[in-house]
Amino acid sequence: MLNDEVLSSIIGEQQLTELISEQEIKKRIVDIARDISDNYKGRIPIIIGVLNGSFLFLADIVRELDIEYEVDFIKISSYGNSTTTSGTVRLLKDISADITGRDIILIEDIVDTGLSLNFLKKRFEDASPNSLAFVTLLHKPHTSKIDFNIDHIGFEIGDEFVVGYGLDYKQKLRGLPSIYTLTKD
Ligand code: IMP
Repeated sequence: MLNDEVLSSIIGEQQLTELISEQEIKKRIVDIARDISDNYKGRIPIIIGVLNGSFLFLADIVRELDIEYEVDFIKISSYGNSTTTSGTVRLLKDISADITGRDIILIEDIVDTGLSLNFLKKRFEDASPNSLAFVTLLHKPHTSKIDFNIDHIGFEIGDEFVVGYGLDYKQKLRGLPSIYTLTKD
């Protein structure tokens, strides 16, 4: 856990307020992993994490699964060093696996505008997988514009900027064990 001095050198005058505790996250992950294990019994899905934000969430989900699975990663550009989206998505690192005919489970950290998820859906559909499911730790329903179903949502949150448990502020704070809002006052 970061000490106060390190923390204030990162966030300055801004406030960190716990929104979702470590225990709540753990509990929700057990539920989601149980659903995935039930849904994919007898199959070997490829679980694809969207870098960087999903690395902890994916690591915790796969350790709760009781089925066989493979893991891969894709990296797309998100906010850069800002707290608002740039409006365009770029593919920075593609997956290595051949996903044609496979069962794909995409793991996102957060769906905000939905721009990233729309981009990823198209990228994966173009490769003709057998199935494609979406899992996100967080969803901002008031800002997201997606016209398809997200199979598993950890938590719905308001239109606020959050950090911790994989989510960053200027590439920092990803290791905080809970999820916090970062506010100016
Ligand atoms: P979208 O394309 O607007 O849905 O944004 C998705 C990406 O933006 C996420 O994968 C995150 O990397 C980043 N993002 C969106 N909202 C937040 C936030 O509140 N905190 C940190 N990163 C965020």
